Amino acid sequence: MPDTADSEPRSADLRTDVAHSARVYDYLLGGKDNYAADREAAEEIVKIAPYMRTSMRASRNFMVRVARHLAVDHGIRQYLDIGTGLPTSPNLHEVVQSVDPTARIVYVDNDPIVLVHARALLTSTPQGRSRYIQADLAEPDAILTAPELHETLNLGEPIALCLLTVIHFIPDDGEAQRIVRRLMEPLPSGSFLALSTINIESAANPSRALKKHNEHGIRAKGRTKAQITSFFDGLELLEPGVTAVHHWRPDEEARKIDDSQVSVYGGVARKP
Ligand SMILES: C[S@@+](CC[C@H](N)C(=O)[O-])C[C@H]1O[C@@H](n2cnc3c(N)ncnc32)[C@H](O)[C@@H]1O
Repeated sequence: MPDTADSEPRSADLRTDVAHSARVYDYLLGGKDNYAADREAAEEIVKIAPYMRTSMRASRNFMVRVARHLAVDHGIRQYLDIGTGLPTSPNLHEVVQSVDPTARIVYVDNDPIVLVHARALLTSTPQGRSRYIQADLAEPDAILTAPELHETLNLGEPIALCLLTVIHFIPDDGEAQRIVRRLMEPLPSGSFLALSTINIESAANPSRALKKHNEHGIRAKGRTKAQITSFFDGLELLEPGVTAVHHWRPDEEARKIDDSQVSVYGGVARKP
């Protein structure tokens, strides 16, 4: 059982009786911050979609490569990461602060289990800063007006908005598009959008796994490559565009992965 402090959500708030995406993801990545309902859902998903663990690992590694690329090659020092997930080493702030210890990060998730474990996200270097906001992607204005965001990030300087494996939890296409645009709107020229999500046309063929998520109460929707690409409309996509995440500027580990094992596509684009 994860630890909870007095000021943190009680297990009643955590709804440990039903599966939650953050905890299913944690379990599939080999983490310990999950409950029986999450493990049961995860095992059922893996039974019909044996590629799932590899896909999630590839997805997490995509985050690491993207963050390093933005920090090293584009000098990005500010990150807004929504749908952070449970802490999994290395976390985004660890990646970018290893490039520049002054980097500042705001993490956002709507699952109280992430709040319980947020301490591990707040281990910023003394020169930099990391903050955690409990908020919902479906309410971008609440995120954009949060005092913690403005105390941490300077909206006059480029920011990388990271929406990594989270937009599929906003099933309505119009709403998902509006949210991404709203979040990019106040960010200055030279900011970036990094986005990854489930591609229903991918070689892994995720439709049964998505159905299983929904049966367990985790509402999730995959999208076509064209739909995923349209999240970047008006922005300048970096090479190699929107691809299966293991094909995005792959390292040695990513190069070994077979296409049939990955259902997540992603890309990174610059705001002109
Ligand atoms: C699959 S994990 C992704 C973790 C991390 N971004 C990564 O790529 O490794 C998805 C996370 O999104 C969070 N999430 C789902 N719906 C959300 C919403 N509407 N608002 C904020 N976070 C959400 C879940 O709680 C979970 O922690």
